[in-house]
This record gives sequence, structure tokens and C-alpha cells, in this order.
Amino acid sequence: MNKHWRLEYLADYALLTLDVAEQSANVLSQEVLQEFAQLLGEIENKAHKGLIIRSAKANGFIAGADVREFEHISDAPRATELARLGQQVFSRLAHLPFPSVALIHGFCLGGGLELALACTYRIAREDAATRLGLPEVRMGIHPGFGGTVRLPPLVGHLPALDMILSGRTLSVREARRIGLVDEAVPERHLLHAAEAFLKRHPPRRKAPWYQRLPGWKPLRPLVVRMLSPRVRHKANPDHYPAPWRFLRLWQERAGEEQEAESLGELLVSRTSRSLVHVFLLGEELKRQGRAHSHDIEQVHVIGAGVMGADIAIWAVNKGFRVSLQDQNPEALARAMKKAAGFFKDKLKDARAVQEAMDRLLPDIHGYGLRRADLVVEAIVEKLEPKRELFKNVEQLVRPQALLATNTSSIPLEAIGQSLKDPTRLVGLHFFNPVAKMQLVEIVRGVKTSEAALQRARAFTCAIERLPLDVKSSPGFLVNRILMPYLMEAVRLVEEGVSLVTIDNAATEFGMPMGPIELADSVGLDICLSVAEELAGPLHIEVPNILRELVEQGHLGRKSGRGFYQYNARGRRELPPPNKIAIDVPITERLVLRLLNEAVACLREGVITDADAVDAGMVYGTGFAPFLGGPMRYVESLGETGISHSLYRLSQEYGSRFTPDPGWSQPQRLIQRKRSSN
Ligand code: NAI
Repeated sequence: MNKHWRLEYLADYALLTLDVAEQSANVLSQEVLQEFAQLLGEIENKAHKGLIIRSAKANGFIAGADVREFEHISDAPRATELARLGQQVFSRLAHLPFPSVALIHGFCLGGGLELALACTYRIAREDAATRLGLPEVRMGIHPGFGGTVRLPPLVGHLPALDMILSGRTLSVREARRIGLVDEAVPERHLLHAAEAFLKRHPPRRKAPWYQRLPGWKPLRPLVVRMLSPRVRHKANPDHYPAPWRFLRLWQERAGEEQEAESLGELLVSRTSRSLVHVFLLGEELKRQGRAHSHDIEQVHVIGAGVMGADIAIWAVNKGFRVSLQDQNPEALARAMKKAAGFFKDKLKDARAVQEAMDRLLPDIHGYGLRRADLVVEAIVEKLEPKRELFKNVEQLVRPQALLATNTSSIPLEAIGQSLKDPTRLVGLHFFNPVAKMQLVEIVRGVKTSEAALQRARAFTCAIERLPLDVKSSPGFLVNRILMPYLMEAVRLVEEGVSLVTIDNAATEFGMPMGPIELADSVGLDICLSVAEELAGPLHIEVPNILRELVEQGHLGRKSGRGFYQYNARGRRELPPPNKIAIDVPITERLVLRLLNEAVACLREGVITDADAVDAGMVYGTGFAPFLGGPMRYVESLGETGISHSLYRLSQEYGSRFTPDPGWSQPQRLIQRKRSSN
């Protein structure tokens, strides 16, 4: 009796259906691979005209290798062995005495696509949900089940390099264009198409000569040189070695043996371990969000500024009907224009754009309130107007409507004071830009009900963002941790360290953007108002230079000048870095303030555990994913060393570096929710 695969013999061929037990999606664990190998042995020995492989899961074909297993692999030889197991099974599939077809629907990723590549043909369901790709670099590895060897001859070298180096997924149309799939058909024709291929048995596809040409041995070093700047732009080789390893394999025309060895080393590297940790944190947030349903159909957003417009557009993009209200008609007009541009860019097809725009209603009088299941407030960051607004809103909405505020710093208890029923008020704190930042802080006020939180989490998942529970306290989690780091950067500017030197120190550490550029991008006025809000409760000193710039109207990128000067196209003009060497521990000062605040958040219970800090900072700010988040980084360095360094800095630079009392509770610092840790 098989646990994961179902084998049927039809008239002329064998049909293998994968339905991995106790999993919502098909993943290739060692057990699944072993069972597959055994079944192939069985099929091999019977004369057949062909084999068809498909998935029984509605969501897709195969999502890839079982990432959870990675965490339990302790050394490189063991990881190499796992890759060899996959290679052997797929090689057996590739060398069956009859042709084989992979019938692909939904996601077909990583090891799943490598399995499909080992089949003679690939037939995909023609729809938007079907996506194919080799996203291994996102986990700090490269394909290891023969994919690096099988993909180039099929689709050509440059498309193969692009797929593996970027890790991006392809639509069916694109996959068809490059020859990754042989045919794309509607659901009802899938089996027929497979049978027809097996009957006709045409030769396996081969990339045309001009696509094979860049693989000519003397040309390979040239191609690598040509691609390197683009790869470097995305992946610093010291932090993210996988794409570079793959390029080397490709240049050396390496076979499966080297592929497996290289994969083995990468899989147990710090980068891969951290990226897997980050991935699983995201999965955990989704799991929590999906634990309940949200029953929200109609959303009403109030405030059509930077955030309100983006939230409305994003919810519409994910299928919701949204009415968008603002007291200022011009703000509404700008938001509608932005929406039209966004959907045109994203959806391309004119009808789909029209359908999306039909779901977004500009609503100056707020008629949508009466129908709304969820109201999201995103007006100015001031207590009185927000309080007043909610008081009016409560009188108009249906009793079951969920009320949410996007405030970045005002306590929920203060906003909810005007409400008759404050249990229905929750914080939905989005990050800017909404389309890019995956995190949403789900803010729990003292009076917020569990039911309201569940609906808020579930809605966040429904719009494909990650819900992170935080307590209503100054700055919640992400802004609070970020603010001391930003203020330290501004202090360094005051001390005469050049802007570029500060920003470079942060990006070399692994931040996606330097703190000064970040402050300019967020807007110095917003930075200042959040900093002032947090200054009292968190004992942060706000450097004068920030106030002065705001008073002078230098608000950052949006006004053409902040710390940096920006040209007409919004590009940063780079002043020269410091000529004389600066004897200041820039990175240490920036990062330790951030870590100290993270530990304070844990101690105060702003979040439940160390995992929540990591998830928040990586998905909310892009904190060096290859380090796995601040607390994972603390774990790797050891908390005693860090608190000693903080103490040393406090002696030299002042009390803002005094180690938080939380450092002396090491158990709490490594306490994690995910059971595998
Ligand atoms: P914004 O100034 O761009 O937009 C505010 C909009 O609200 C304006 O269009 C204004 O006309 C409208 N408005 C003000 N009072 C109103 C009322 N009583 N009724 C209807 N419309 C009203 O502000 P932004 O940046 O979008 O911020 C909105 C909220 O989101 C604030 O609470 C802010 O703290 C929060 N937030 C902002 C982030 C950012 O990066 N800008 C990030 C995360 C949260």
C-alpha cells in the first residue's frame, strides 16, 4: 500500500498521481522520493506505452523539496546524499524505456519542476494559477536534483541562467514561449493531450541552435562576465553565494556529481539556514492567519493619501470590493489615477484592468460605510481627528463591521476611547510601499477582542500579506526597533561622518538600503513625527539636524532634498565619502542600538517570542535575510558578547547604549514558537 502515490494502469499507459499524505501541498520529502523510486521500478518492468505523472492536490503539481527536512540535515555530506537520492530517482525516470509526461497545474517549483524536466514531455494547464520556476536561490541553494544539467539543453542557456539566477516563476505563456512546456491546454483537455503525446511520441524538445550557442565552451567565461554585474547587484557574493556557485558550475560544464556536492555545502551554510528560517517564519504567520475565516467582502478605506490609496489598491488587486473615502476630492482623484496606472502595469489586459477598476469606488461622502464589513482608517497621524472619525463611523456601520486603524504610533486605547464598543477596534499597520512590504502588524489594544484579531489576521492573509501580532505600545514592533537605529545614523551625520559612509556600512552589513536613504525615502517629516512620538516613552533623543531639515522644508526624496539632494527624476546625488579614515564603529553603533531595542520589545512582551522579532524585521524592513533576523543574529554571536559591547559603547558614547535588562534573561532571547527550533 502506497502512502503518497497512487498507481493505476490504464489501457496503454501507467498513471501516477501524487497526493502527499498529511500535507496541503505536494512536497518531495525523502519518503516521497523513495516511494516514487520503488514505483518506477515496478512500472519499468511492465511493458507500457508511457507514463503520466500528475498531482491530486487542487493547489498545484509539486511545490518543491520538503524545506522542513533541510533544518534537520546537520552536515554537507548528508545534504549531498539527499541530492544524490533525488538525482538517482529522476535519472531513472528520464531513462524509462517508454516516454513520460508531467501534467502540470498550479505551482510547479524547485524539485517539482526538476521532476517534470526529467519527463520526456511537460503539458501545463492554461491559466493564471499555473506557475513554473526554480526558486532555490531564495533558500540560499541552487537546484540539486539534476535541474542545472537538464534545463539548459531544453530551453537554451540564457533563459536557463535567468531562471536559476533570479529564482523567478514563469507564467504558462512564458514557459511555453521558451519551450519549458510542450503544450498548454485547458483543464478538461489535459489527459487527452498527454495521451496524444504518448501516442505520437515526438522527439524530446531541444533548444534551437542560437539558444545553445552561449553554452559553447569558449563562450562560457564571456557569458559569466557579462551576467556578473547584474547578479552582483542582487546578491552580494559574501552574503548570498548560491547564484555564484551555480555560475561556476555552469562555466565548468559541471555534471550531476558536482551539482550534488555544491548543493550539499550550500544547504548547511549560514545563509541557507537563515533563509530557510525566514521562509518558515512566513509560513507560520500564514498558518496562524488562515486558522480562521474572515467573512469580509466589502472594504471601506478612509484617507486616500500615500497609505490609504495603496491599501485600497492592494485589496482591490486581491479581489475585494473597496470604497475609498477622503475629504479632499483631489486626493481621491490622485488615488484613482494611481490605481489605473497600477492595474495597467500589473494586469496588462484591458478587460482585467476594467474589472479591477470597477471594484474600486471613489466615495467622497462615505456611502460605502453602511455596506462595509471592514473599515480601514488611514487619515493624518493625529489623535483628535482619528478619535472623532471613529465616533462618527461607529454610528453608521453595521454592528458586525470590523474597525481598523493604520496608525503608526498612536495607542489603540486612545483612539478607541470614543467608541461604544472598543472590542471591535484593531490596528492593521501596513508598511510603505504596501505592494512591496509583506508584513502587516496586527495591533492588539487592551480591549480588542480575540474575534476581531482573528478576522484581521485572516483578512491580511486573504490579501497575501503576513499578519504579525503585536501589543499596542509606542511604535509597536518594527518602527520601535528601527527608530533608535535611524536616530543613531542621524547622530553620525551630526558628528561629521559622510552620508555615503553611513549608508554603505549598513548595506555592507546586509540591509537593503542605508538608514539615511531610508529616512529620506520615508520622508523626514514622518520620521520626525514618529521619533517625537517615541522620544518620551523610549527615552530617545531626537537629533537637532532632523528638526532643522524639516523646518527648512527638506523632507527627503519627495521634496527633492533631505539629507541627500535628488535630481528631477528622484535619483540620489552622491556626495563624496569621507576622505580621512573615520575612527568610529559605525556598523556596531547602528546595529547594536537596533538589537538592544529588539531585546527590550521581547522583555516587555510587545511580541510573544524571538521568532516574531525576526519575522517582523525581515518582512517589515528587509533586515539582512541571510542573517535570519535580529534574534537569529544574536543567537549566532552570543548574547553575552553583545551586552558587553553595548556596555563598552555606553561608556564611550553615553547611556543610550546601556544594555537592556532583557539581555540578562537569555532564555527569553532564544525562545521560539516554531517547534523545530
Ligand atoms: P497622507 O497625509 O498621505 O494621507 C492622509 C489623507 O487623509 C489625506 O488625503 C487627507 O485628505 C485625508 N484625511 C484627513 N482627515 C480626513 C478625514 N477626517 N476624513 C477623510 N479623509 C481625511 O498620510 P499617510 O502617509 O497616508 O498616513 C496615513 C496613516 O497611515 C497615518 O496614520 C500614518 O501614521 C499611517 N502610516 C503611514 C506610513 C507612511 O509611510 N506614510 C506607513 C504606515 C502607516
